[in-house]
Amino acid sequence: RSHHPLLSAELPSEGLFGKYDLRQLQRGFQVYKEVCAACHSIRLVSFRDLKQLGYDDGQVKAIAAGWQIEQPNVNPDTGEVATRKNLPSDRFPLVFANDVAARAANNNAVPPDLSLMTKARHEGPDYVYSLVGHGYVNQPADLLAKFPDAKTPKGLHYNQYFANLNIAMPPPLTQDGQVQYLDGTKPTVDQMAKDVAAFLTWTAEPNLDTRHGAGFAVLGFLLVFCFLAYGAYQNVWRNMK
Ligand code: HEM
Repeated sequence: RSHHPLLSAELPSEGLFGKYDLRQLQRGFQVYKEVCAACHSIRLVSFRDLKQLGYDDGQVKAIAAGWQIEQPNVNPDTGEVATRKNLPSDRFPLVFANDVAARAANNNAVPPDLSLMTKARHEGPDYVYSLVGHGYVNQPADLLAKFPDAKTPKGLHYNQYFANLNIAMPPPLTQDGQVQYLDGTKPTVDQMAKDVAAFLTWTAEPNLDTRHGAGFAVLGFLLVFCFLAYGAYQNVWRNMK
């Protein structure tokens, strides 16, 4: 990433006691679905995984069946390739058939799969939040004056958090209210960016809550075991002086 210091997404999943906020994950999924999914896949996630966000079976079925991009389906007899509606057991489908198609649609850049993006970049959740929520600014005039050749080329977009500062992704979140939240949260650009960062933190680590819980169970066990070991020590050396 660039040298520009990241902003904190202030996710409730951060830190030792961190826990996902399911309502935030649902909002983040909505942003992903309505905005990012036009270009980015999350191919490691299955529709039924969404149950972890609090959706019930019927909702997951409906989300899968209504998903814009369908599953490729090869007829075993004829080899004919058709598509069918997504099922809860399906992974999220790819957006583009291959990288050539992806490049053709994106000014010669491939939108990366986002399943593990928050792990693939340093400070991933903060990076995603900063990149899409606060990254697109005007190119600094003093820099341009000094280095006129550094002007962002046509078809690229200046983003202060992107490693080489010129990104092929057009600003995805451009105005407040771009998605309509159902839980009363105000969909500002900042909020949508935080929520989608939260969602992509979950796609990369769906078991964070369990992992944190297991950590505390282990610490509790070790504490009890310390007393047991001390008791045993006292017992074993009871008659030795
Ligand atoms: C790259 C996130 C929407 C096209 C990226 C990257 C992230 C990201 C994290 C990787 C940056 C890096 O390599 O460090 C998102 C999020 C979106 C979104 C969270 C929704 C809020 C879109 C949309 C499009 C798009 C709608 C297409 C119109 C691209 C492309 C790249 C990219 C082409 C590759 C950029 C390059 O390598 O220059 N996006 N994106 N993205 N995105 Fe998006």
